[in-house]
Amino acid sequence: MDSKVKSLDLADQGRRKIEWAESRMPVMMEIRRRYGETRPLEGARIAGCLHVTKETAVLVETLRACGAEVSWSGCNPLSTQDDVAAALAASGVSIFAWHGMNTEEFYWAIERTLEFEPNLTLDDGADLIFTVHNAHRDLAAKIRGGTEETTTGVHRLRAMAGDGKLLYPVIAVNDAETKWDFDNVYGTGQSSLDGILRASNVLFAGKNFVVAGYGHCGKGCAMRARGMGAHVIVTEVKPTAALKAVLDGMEVMPMDEAAKVGDIFITATGMKDVIVRRHFDPMKDGAVVCNTGHYDCEINIPDLEDLAASKRDVRPANEEYSLADGRRVYLLAKGRLVNLAAAEGHPASVMDMSFANQFLSLKALHEEPERRALGVYDLPESQDQDIARLKLETMEKSIDALTEDQIAYLTDYAAGT
Ligand SMILES: NC(=O)c1ccc[n+]([C@@H]2O[C@H](COP(=O)([O-])OP(=O)(O)OC[C@H]3O[C@@H](n4cnc5c(N)ncnc54)[C@H](O)[C@@H]3O)[C@@H](O)[C@H]2O)c1
Repeated sequence: MDSKVKSLDLADQGRRKIEWAESRMPVMMEIRRRYGETRPLEGARIAGCLHVTKETAVLVETLRACGAEVSWSGCNPLSTQDDVAAALAASGVSIFAWHGMNTEEFYWAIERTLEFEPNLTLDDGADLIFTVHNAHRDLAAKIRGGTEETTTGVHRLRAMAGDGKLLYPVIAVNDAETKWDFDNVYGTGQSSLDGILRASNVLFAGKNFVVAGYGHCGKGCAMRARGMGAHVIVTEVKPTAALKAVLDGMEVMPMDEAAKVGDIFITATGMKDVIVRRHFDPMKDGAVVCNTGHYDCEINIPDLEDLAASKRDVRPANEEYSLADGRRVYLLAKGRLVNLAAAEGHPASVMDMSFANQFLSLKALHEEPERRALGVYDLPESQDQDIARLKLETMEKSIDALTEDQIAYLTDYAAGT
């Protein structure tokens, strides 16, 4: 199989990481065991564009064990774990990914995964599906469907479907409860703080930690930072999200105010230009700024570059920008996903559920007798409950079940006080 990775010499180290992830992903291992015999993905040719991490490797190897052919690229230039990519390449996966690729190489890698003419696509951020739509429209007709892993990708694909521009159906894996309410909240919360710590080793206790966006990811970061003793400040544009933050005990204010008092800033919005020149202007000396949203446009880096008299690397994934008046601002992971570029991404046990949703969605698209009508689809609620039940079982947790009588009571409109 064709592939391009940093160095195959890293394969052993990557294999050990993958084995560690397997030990934390019991739902995926159960799926592999269950469908490894019947191989329902026989005939599926899946092009994937998703962060190359040890958890992704478990997904890739599960897809292959269940019959699929796979070709893979990373969905972010800084998130590929080179040892994991090497282990996948060494085991015969067609993969084009290395840490630190430039924009041209990033799209080159996506193009390479399309050469084997996939009939299914898997995206995290929709770059692959956009490439098909922009440059391979003939291929789109042969693709049965795709899946999308993240909020930003789902937003864009829904907009595309609304404009009648979508050329094949897509399942919004992100929007499944067992993905959005777990991966984005607990996964991003923990791993983003992990990234900040690895890149800066700052003390959270007593610091003003500013979170832009109190959606799923932002809430996760806020909860975890508070748990470490930070004073959390939230900025928002959506009244209900801001109100939730207030009632969760967070301080809420506009970024123009937060910029003056923050010690550590993280953006988690999926929106561009959340931190711009007028926010850098009043920042404290030593402020640490990072992003955990999908693209690197939440912090306006050209504005920071413009303000800076000089810059230098002070630690891995940590650049010091010295401003003309002597203040220093520290930008982590070049404004890219701090949890993946400065740490390892989400822990395996939370990706276990996200990737179970990916697997089952691709299986559904592949097995359906006809291609679905064009559109962006939610996952059935029953799938969420099945995955959550299995996850609870693997954690040796039991829950109650409604009796027949209680089920009848739910819809008994004659019952009252
Ligand atoms: N780092 C990761 O591993 C990871 C994981 C999952 C999702 N993501 C990405 O993180 C981003 C957020 O995802 P989510 O699931 O939390 O989305 P979400 O829709 O649940 O929350 C986003 C929040 O940001 C707010 N917002 C938008 N513009 C804003 C602005 N200018 N200032 C302040 N708040 C603003 C919105 O009102 C919303 O409440 C997306 O880009 C998503 O793709 C990253």
